[in-house]
Amino acid sequence: MPEIKRPRVVADGPLDEAVMNGFGDRVELLDWEVALKGSDEPIDAVYTYGHPAVDGALMDRLPGLRIISNYGVGVDHINIPDAVERGIPVGNTPDVLIGATADMGMALLLASARRIVEGDRYARSPEFTRYDPGYMFGREAHSSTLGIIGLGSIGSTVARRALAFDMKVLYHNRRRREAVEQKLGVEYASFDDLLSHSDYVMLCCPLTEATSNLIDAAALAKMKPTATLVNIARGGVVDTEALTQALIDKTIAAASLDVTEPEPLPRDHPLLKLDNVVLVPHLGSATIETRQGMADQSVENLFLGLAGKPLLNEVKA
Ligand code: 8YV
Repeated sequence: MPEIKRPRVVADGPLDEAVMNGFGDRVELLDWEVALKGSDEPIDAVYTYGHPAVDGALMDRLPGLRIISNYGVGVDHINIPDAVERGIPVGNTPDVLIGATADMGMALLLASARRIVEGDRYARSPEFTRYDPGYMFGREAHSSTLGIIGLGSIGSTVARRALAFDMKVLYHNRRRREAVEQKLGVEYASFDDLLSHSDYVMLCCPLTEATSNLIDAAALAKMKPTATLVNIARGGVVDTEALTQALIDKTIAAASLDVTEPEPLPRDHPLLKLDNVVLVPHLGSATIETRQGMADQSVENLFLGLAGKPLLNEVKA
Protein backbone atom coordinates (compact mmCIF):
# COMPACT_ATOMS: atom_id res chain seq x y z
CA MET A 1 0.00 0.00 0.00
CA PRO A 2 1.44 3.40 -0.88
CA GLU A 3 1.78 5.62 2.20
CA ILE A 4 -0.89 8.35 2.26
CA LYS A 5 0.76 11.71 2.85
CA ARG A 6 -0.77 13.41 5.84
CA PRO A 7 -0.78 17.23 6.19
CA ARG A 8 2.18 18.42 8.25
CA VAL A 9 1.06 20.62 11.14
CA VAL A 10 3.37 22.58 13.42
CA ALA A 11 1.79 23.06 16.86
CA ASP A 12 2.85 24.43 20.23
CA GLY A 13 2.06 21.72 22.72
CA PRO A 14 1.51 19.71 24.69
CA LEU A 15 -2.03 19.64 23.29
CA ASP A 16 -4.90 18.39 25.42
CA GLU A 17 -6.87 15.23 24.80
CA ALA A 18 -9.80 16.91 23.02
CA VAL A 19 -7.45 18.49 20.46
CA MET A 20 -5.42 15.30 20.03
CA ASN A 21 -8.62 13.31 19.51
CA GLY A 22 -9.78 15.91 16.98
CA PHE A 23 -6.64 15.46 14.91
CA GLY A 24 -6.57 11.69 15.39
CA ASP A 25 -4.11 10.22 12.92
CA ARG A 26 -5.19 12.61 10.15
CA VAL A 27 -2.15 14.90 10.50
CA GLU A 28 1.55 14.64 11.13
CA LEU A 29 2.14 16.79 14.21
CA LEU A 30 5.49 18.56 14.42
CA ASP A 31 7.11 20.37 17.34
CA TRP A 32 7.11 24.15 17.68
CA GLU A 33 10.90 23.93 17.27
CA VAL A 34 10.20 23.56 13.55
CA ALA A 35 8.39 26.91 13.51
CA LEU A 36 11.29 28.55 15.31
CA LYS A 37 14.06 27.02 13.22
CA GLY A 38 12.28 26.77 9.86
CA SER A 39 11.83 23.86 7.51
CA ASP A 40 13.08 22.84 4.06
CA GLU A 41 10.15 20.43 3.73
CA PRO A 42 6.64 21.83 3.10
CA ILE A 43 4.59 22.64 6.22
CA ASP A 44 0.84 22.80 5.59
CA ALA A 45 -0.53 24.35 8.76
CA VAL A 46 0.29 26.11 12.01
CA TYR A 47 -1.84 25.36 15.08
CA THR A 48 -1.52 27.76 18.03
CA TYR A 49 -2.71 26.35 21.35
CA GLY A 50 -1.05 28.63 23.92
CA HIS A 51 -0.02 32.03 22.67
CA PRO A 52 3.22 31.54 20.74
CA ALA A 53 4.26 34.57 18.68
CA VAL A 54 3.55 34.12 14.97
CA ASP A 55 4.83 36.79 12.60
CA GLY A 56 5.69 37.11 8.93
CA ALA A 57 9.24 35.86 9.48
CA LEU A 58 7.92 32.65 11.03
CA MET A 59 5.40 32.21 8.19
CA ASP A 60 8.22 32.67 5.65
CA ARG A 61 10.27 29.94 7.35
CA LEU A 62 7.50 27.40 6.66
CA PRO A 63 7.23 26.77 2.91
CA GLY A 64 3.75 25.95 1.65
CA LEU A 65 1.93 27.22 4.77
CA ARG A 66 -1.81 27.38 3.95
CA ILE A 67 -3.66 27.92 7.24
CA ILE A 68 -3.07 29.17 10.78
CA SER A 69 -5.64 27.90 13.26
CA ASN A 70 -5.84 29.33 16.76
CA TYR A 71 -7.40 27.62 19.78
CA GLY A 72 -9.13 30.62 21.37
CA VAL A 73 -10.51 33.99 20.34
CA GLY A 74 -7.61 36.36 21.12
CA VAL A 75 -5.09 36.55 18.30
CA ASP A 76 -2.81 39.28 19.62
CA HIS A 77 0.09 36.81 19.38
CA ILE A 78 -0.46 36.42 15.61
CA ASN A 79 0.47 39.17 13.17
CA ILE A 80 -2.76 39.30 11.16
CA PRO A 81 -1.61 41.87 8.54
CA ASP A 82 1.44 39.64 7.85
CA ALA A 83 -0.88 36.65 7.31
CA VAL A 84 -3.25 38.64 5.08
CA GLU A 85 -0.30 39.92 3.03
CA ARG A 86 0.75 36.31 2.43
CA GLY A 87 -2.80 35.13 1.70
CA ILE A 88 -2.80 32.77 4.71
CA PRO A 89 -6.21 32.60 6.45
CA VAL A 90 -6.23 32.71 10.26
CA GLY A 91 -9.04 30.93 12.10
CA ASN A 92 -10.14 31.40 15.71
CA THR A 93 -12.97 30.21 18.00
CA PRO A 94 -14.93 33.26 19.18
CA ASP A 95 -18.48 31.96 19.69
CA VAL A 96 -18.00 28.85 21.80
CA LEU A 97 -16.26 30.64 24.66
CA ILE A 98 -18.53 33.65 25.19
CA GLY A 99 -20.63 32.21 28.01
CA ALA A 100 -17.75 30.68 29.97
CA THR A 101 -15.65 33.84 29.75
CA ALA A 102 -18.56 36.07 30.79
CA ASP A 103 -19.22 33.73 33.73
CA MET A 104 -15.60 34.13 34.77
CA GLY A 105 -15.97 37.92 34.65
CA MET A 106 -18.90 37.75 37.06
CA ALA A 107 -17.12 35.17 39.24
CA LEU A 108 -14.10 37.45 39.58
CA LEU A 109 -16.28 40.49 40.28
CA LEU A 110 -18.25 38.70 43.00
CA ALA A 111 -15.20 36.96 44.48
CA SER A 112 -13.49 40.30 44.94
CA ALA A 113 -16.59 42.16 46.13
CA ARG A 114 -17.42 39.53 48.76
CA ARG A 115 -13.83 38.59 49.66
CA ILE A 116 -14.38 34.94 48.76
CA VAL A 117 -10.71 34.02 48.35
CA GLU A 118 -9.57 35.86 51.47
CA GLY A 119 -12.53 34.36 53.34
CA ASP A 120 -11.62 30.87 52.17
CA ARG A 121 -8.03 31.34 53.38
CA TYR A 122 -9.27 32.59 56.77
CA ALA A 123 -11.93 29.88 57.18
CA ARG A 124 -9.22 27.21 56.74
CA SER A 125 -6.62 28.91 58.94
CA PRO A 126 -5.91 28.18 62.63
CA GLU A 127 -6.85 31.84 63.31
CA PHE A 128 -10.53 31.12 62.65
CA THR A 129 -11.69 30.13 66.11
CA ARG A 130 -14.77 32.31 66.55
CA TYR A 131 -17.47 33.71 64.25
CA ASP A 132 -17.55 37.50 64.40
CA PRO A 133 -20.29 39.56 62.73
CA GLY A 134 -17.84 42.46 62.63
CA TYR A 135 -15.21 41.05 60.30
CA MET A 136 -14.50 40.96 56.56
CA PHE A 137 -17.03 43.45 55.25
CA GLY A 138 -17.10 43.46 51.47
CA ARG A 139 -18.63 45.68 48.83
CA GLU A 140 -22.08 45.48 47.21
CA ALA A 141 -22.36 44.10 43.70
CA HIS A 142 -26.11 44.61 43.30
CA SER A 143 -27.14 48.28 43.07
CA SER A 144 -23.64 49.29 42.05
CA THR A 145 -22.31 50.41 38.66
CA LEU A 146 -20.33 48.20 36.31
CA GLY A 147 -18.32 49.85 33.53
CA ILE A 148 -17.52 47.47 30.68
CA ILE A 149 -14.66 48.35 28.37
CA GLY A 150 -15.25 46.54 25.07
CA LEU A 151 -18.88 45.73 24.29
CA GLY A 152 -18.24 42.82 21.93
CA SER A 153 -19.96 39.49 22.36
CA ILE A 154 -18.24 38.74 25.70
CA GLY A 155 -18.82 42.31 26.98
CA SER A 156 -22.52 42.23 26.08
CA THR A 157 -22.94 38.83 27.72
CA VAL A 158 -21.32 40.18 30.90
CA ALA A 159 -23.74 43.13 30.67
CA ARG A 160 -26.76 40.80 30.60
CA ARG A 161 -25.47 38.94 33.64
CA ALA A 162 -24.75 42.17 35.52
CA LEU A 163 -28.22 43.54 34.77
CA ALA A 164 -29.68 40.37 36.28
CA PHE A 165 -27.67 41.23 39.40
CA ASP A 166 -29.46 44.61 39.50
CA MET A 167 -26.34 46.51 38.51
CA LYS A 168 -26.32 49.65 36.42
CA VAL A 169 -24.18 49.03 33.32
CA LEU A 170 -22.06 51.61 31.52
CA TYR A 171 -19.88 50.71 28.59
CA HIS A 172 -17.16 52.19 26.46
CA ASN A 173 -16.34 50.86 23.02
CA ARG A 174 -14.35 52.04 20.00
CA ARG A 175 -17.64 52.47 18.17
CA ARG A 176 -20.82 53.36 20.03
CA ARG A 177 -23.31 50.47 19.72
CA GLU A 178 -26.73 52.11 19.89
CA ALA A 179 -28.75 49.04 18.86
CA VAL A 180 -27.12 46.94 21.62
CA GLU A 181 -27.59 49.79 24.10
CA GLN A 182 -31.31 49.83 23.45
CA LYS A 183 -31.69 46.08 23.37
CA LEU A 184 -29.86 45.50 26.66
CA GLY A 185 -30.50 48.72 28.56
CA VAL A 186 -26.87 49.77 28.96
CA GLU A 187 -25.50 53.30 28.75
CA TYR A 188 -22.59 54.57 26.64
CA ALA A 189 -19.93 56.60 28.49
CA SER A 190 -16.70 58.25 27.42
CA PHE A 191 -13.58 56.45 28.68
CA ASP A 192 -13.03 59.04 31.44
CA ASP A 193 -16.68 59.09 32.53
CA LEU A 194 -16.79 55.32 32.69
CA LEU A 195 -13.68 55.27 34.89
CA SER A 196 -14.92 57.94 37.26
CA HIS A 197 -18.50 56.62 37.63
CA SER A 198 -17.97 52.85 37.90
CA ASP A 199 -17.70 50.77 41.06
CA TYR A 200 -16.35 47.91 38.95
CA VAL A 201 -14.44 48.37 35.70
CA MET A 202 -14.30 45.19 33.64
CA LEU A 203 -11.94 44.81 30.67
CA CYS A 204 -13.51 42.78 27.86
CA CYS A 205 -11.65 44.24 24.87
CA PRO A 206 -9.03 42.60 22.63
CA LEU A 207 -5.38 43.52 23.08
CA THR A 208 -4.43 45.78 20.17
CA GLU A 209 -2.11 48.73 19.67
CA ALA A 210 -4.99 50.97 20.78
CA THR A 211 -5.69 49.04 24.01
CA SER A 212 -2.12 48.22 25.03
CA ASN A 213 -1.58 49.73 28.52
CA LEU A 214 -4.98 51.42 28.27
CA ILE A 215 -5.28 51.16 32.04
CA ASP A 216 -2.20 53.11 33.06
CA ALA A 217 -1.47 55.29 36.10
CA ALA A 218 -3.55 58.17 34.67
CA ALA A 219 -6.57 55.90 34.06
CA LEU A 220 -6.28 54.32 37.52
CA ALA A 221 -6.19 57.80 39.07
CA LYS A 222 -9.56 58.56 37.46
CA MET A 223 -11.22 55.53 39.09
CA LYS A 224 -13.04 55.74 42.44
CA PRO A 225 -10.92 54.85 45.48
CA THR A 226 -13.61 52.25 46.25
CA ALA A 227 -13.51 50.73 42.74
CA THR A 228 -12.38 47.29 41.57
CA LEU A 229 -10.65 46.50 38.28
CA VAL A 230 -11.61 43.15 36.72
CA ASN A 231 -9.54 41.88 33.79
CA ILE A 232 -10.78 39.01 31.62
CA ALA A 233 -9.15 40.43 28.46
CA ARG A 234 -5.36 40.34 28.24
CA GLY A 235 -2.73 41.35 30.79
CA GLY A 236 -1.25 43.82 28.32
CA VAL A 237 -4.34 46.05 28.49
CA VAL A 238 -3.13 47.03 31.97
CA ASP A 239 0.17 48.58 33.04
CA THR A 240 1.02 46.01 35.72
CA GLU A 241 3.43 48.22 37.65
CA ALA A 242 0.96 51.12 37.72
CA LEU A 243 -1.80 48.78 38.91
CA THR A 244 0.42 47.33 41.66
CA GLN A 245 1.25 50.83 42.88
CA ALA A 246 -2.41 51.92 42.74
CA LEU A 247 -3.40 48.90 44.85
CA ILE A 248 -0.65 49.57 47.38
CA ASP A 249 -1.53 53.29 47.56
CA LYS A 250 -5.28 52.48 47.68
CA THR A 251 -5.89 54.65 44.62
CA ILE A 252 -8.39 51.89 43.84
CA ALA A 253 -9.74 49.31 46.28
CA ALA A 254 -9.09 46.00 44.55
CA ALA A 255 -8.32 44.05 41.41
CA SER A 256 -9.56 40.68 40.21
CA LEU A 257 -7.50 39.26 37.37
CA ASP A 258 -7.74 36.29 35.05
CA VAL A 259 -4.79 37.57 33.04
CA THR A 260 -1.56 39.43 33.75
CA GLU A 261 1.41 40.80 31.84
CA PRO A 262 3.76 39.03 31.98
CA GLU A 263 1.92 35.75 32.43
CA PRO A 264 2.74 34.31 34.82
CA LEU A 265 4.10 37.19 36.90
CA PRO A 266 7.56 36.58 38.40
CA ARG A 267 6.99 34.61 41.59
CA ASP A 268 8.37 37.46 43.72
CA HIS A 269 6.21 40.17 42.10
CA PRO A 270 4.72 42.52 44.75
CA LEU A 271 1.21 42.14 43.24
CA LEU A 272 1.18 38.52 44.43
CA LYS A 273 1.51 39.65 48.04
CA LEU A 274 -1.55 41.92 48.09
CA ASP A 275 -4.73 40.85 49.90
CA ASN A 276 -6.89 43.12 47.76
CA VAL A 277 -6.12 41.09 44.63
CA VAL A 278 -7.88 37.97 43.40
CA LEU A 279 -5.88 36.06 40.79
CA VAL A 280 -6.65 33.06 38.63
CA PRO A 281 -4.27 31.56 36.05
CA HIS A 282 -6.04 32.49 32.76
CA LEU A 283 -9.09 30.26 33.23
CA GLY A 284 -11.68 32.38 31.38
CA SER A 285 -12.72 29.66 28.94
CA ALA A 286 -11.51 26.66 30.93
CA THR A 287 -14.62 24.53 31.31
CA ILE A 288 -14.93 21.00 29.96
CA GLU A 289 -17.68 21.91 27.48
CA THR A 290 -16.08 25.12 26.23
CA ARG A 291 -12.66 23.53 25.82
CA GLN A 292 -14.28 20.75 23.78
CA GLY A 293 -15.97 23.36 21.58
CA MET A 294 -12.70 25.24 21.12
CA ALA A 295 -10.94 22.00 20.18
CA ASP A 296 -13.67 21.04 17.69
CA GLN A 297 -13.81 24.47 16.02
CA SER A 298 -10.06 24.99 15.82
CA VAL A 299 -9.47 21.51 14.37
CA GLU A 300 -12.29 22.04 11.87
CA ASN A 301 -10.90 25.46 10.89
CA LEU A 302 -7.55 23.81 10.22
CA PHE A 303 -9.02 21.16 7.91
CA LEU A 304 -11.26 23.70 6.14
CA GLY A 305 -8.20 25.86 5.54
CA LEU A 306 -6.27 22.89 4.16
CA ALA A 307 -9.17 22.18 1.80
CA GLY A 308 -9.18 25.82 0.67
CA LYS A 309 -12.73 26.25 2.02
CA PRO A 310 -14.15 29.15 4.08
CA LEU A 311 -13.36 28.79 7.79
CA LEU A 312 -15.99 28.65 10.54
CA ASN A 313 -14.44 31.89 11.80
CA GLU A 314 -11.78 33.76 9.90
CA VAL A 315 -10.00 36.65 11.61
CA LYS A 316 -10.19 39.78 9.52
CA ALA A 317 -7.36 42.34 9.51
C1 8YV B 1 -7.81 30.51 25.89
C2 8YV B 1 -8.20 33.03 25.62
O1 8YV B 1 -7.68 29.79 27.05
O2 8YV B 1 -9.59 32.64 23.77
C3 8YV B 1 -8.77 33.36 24.30
O3 8YV B 1 -8.38 34.42 23.77
O4 8YV B 1 -7.52 33.78 26.18
C4 8YV B 1 -8.53 31.77 26.30
O5 8YV B 1 -9.89 31.51 26.21
C5 8YV B 1 -6.51 30.61 25.25
O6 8YV B 1 -6.45 31.42 24.15
C6 8YV B 1 -5.98 29.22 24.88
O7 8YV B 1 -4.65 29.26 24.98
